[in-house]
Amino acid sequence: MSLFRKKSIADLVRGTKGDGLRKTLGATDLVLLGIGCIIGTGIFVLTGVAAAKYAGPGIMLSFVLSGLACAFAALAYSELSSMVPVTGSAYTFTYVSMGEIVAFVVGWALICEYTIGSAAVAAGWSGYMVGLLKSVGITLPQAWTAVPADGGILNVPAVLITAFLSYLLMLGTRESANLNKILVAIKLACIAIFLFLATPHINPVNWQPFLPYGWSGVSAGAAIVFFAYIGFDTVSTAVEECKNPNRDIPVGIVGSLIVCTILYIAVAAVLTGVVPYSSLNNSEPVAYALRAIGMNFGSALVAIGAICGITTVLLVFMYGQTRIFLAMARDGMIPQSLVKIHPKYGTPHLITMVAGGVVAILSGLLPINIIAELCNMGTLVAFILVAAGVGVLRRTQPDAVRPFRCPAVGIVVPMAVLLCGYLIANLPIETMEFFAAWYVIGMIVYFSYSRKNSAMAPKSTDISQKG
Ligand code: ALA
Repeated sequence: MSLFRKKSIADLVRGTKGDGLRKTLGATDLVLLGIGCIIGTGIFVLTGVAAAKYAGPGIMLSFVLSGLACAFAALAYSELSSMVPVTGSAYTFTYVSMGEIVAFVVGWALICEYTIGSAAVAAGWSGYMVGLLKSVGITLPQAWTAVPADGGILNVPAVLITAFLSYLLMLGTRESANLNKILVAIKLACIAIFLFLATPHINPVNWQPFLPYGWSGVSAGAAIVFFAYIGFDTVSTAVEECKNPNRDIPVGIVGSLIVCTILYIAVAAVLTGVVPYSSLNNSEPVAYALRAIGMNFGSALVAIGAICGITTVLLVFMYGQTRIFLAMARDGMIPQSLVKIHPKYGTPHLITMVAGGVVAILSGLLPINIIAELCNMGTLVAFILVAAGVGVLRRTQPDAVRPFRCPAVGIVVPMAVLLCGYLIANLPIETMEFFAAWYVIGMIVYFSYSRKNSAMAPKSTDISQKG
């Protein structure tokens, strides 16, 4: 029984035959899909937190740094997703390249990414909703809109939006490509309105000092705004529906990253240019900055756009979370009973409810920066292992068909590992401690359950019925 038993690419691909997914998506659709999953709480909320606490106006450089880390990881993702064109994301890729235990480690990291990430996104949603209601004269009590660390009891709006979306997911709601296009348009319009209204009010004095906390502030800022880029990997899950995955997947992944990086740097520059960076540590910094320069109507518009945009990211995240659980349960890593499909709705209702409950509790009780940093940790670990997987497969399976070949792999893979590792090193020590504890639990689950129940474990009884 090997810890490193691997799945074969051929088996995985065979398993997807007959799904009948139509190949309708082109490069532009994929760029839009990517933007739909990327732009959310990161840019609308965490930019302010990171600028005020860590980087100052140098937050622009933080975006460049974490954007670069993502760009290298994105190229690696593109190669693996074109080689292993099945859903299940980094977890599945690693099962093929490095074997079961590493795949489990990635799956466990992804659970952290999606669950804790959803909580952070829900918290961001709450900040804008509370601010918007306030601007129309409805002031909700601080006790029920803030987490204990911020002087409240429970962030109720975050709990409610999580419960509502979990309910929709249980009923089988999935984002449609058309709805996604509309929401992407709203998001982009909202950013354009902000840039248009605020740019004339930039006062360069606000950019001084540019690096109040030096390079270490920029790095710590990068480690948190990395959250703003998470989601581009979702594009790879559409690989089975692509007309020309070889070209379109990398264009979709890298293209959406480039668009977001440019927008993020612009927003960061304008935000820190119109108000002092130290005032940005609030729950809706973009709307706040517009109010501070007297643009109340513009502020409300931007808040509405942010709320729509963040809702779609949350839906995708919570959906992605169930998908990871499904992939892991299919392989016997977690109990099948958890992902039992509802007879009427055809959705994994139990896990959707349980995971939604956990997300609601986390978002209701923990500060957004702490949960975002934890989510980043999980994602960065997964990215490192995906990048390493590309290197491993190039050696172990040099002749496998690679519809998309990562260019300059000898540079891209080590750079992805190094930059993601650098961002991890800049996360707070508490994040690492929590993450270590998460893995202690993970290893207990693996060695007490998953290893024995793995679909690849040799069985003493006949397994032919397993299908
Ligand atoms: N990138 C996503 C966001 O910023 C997770 O909300």
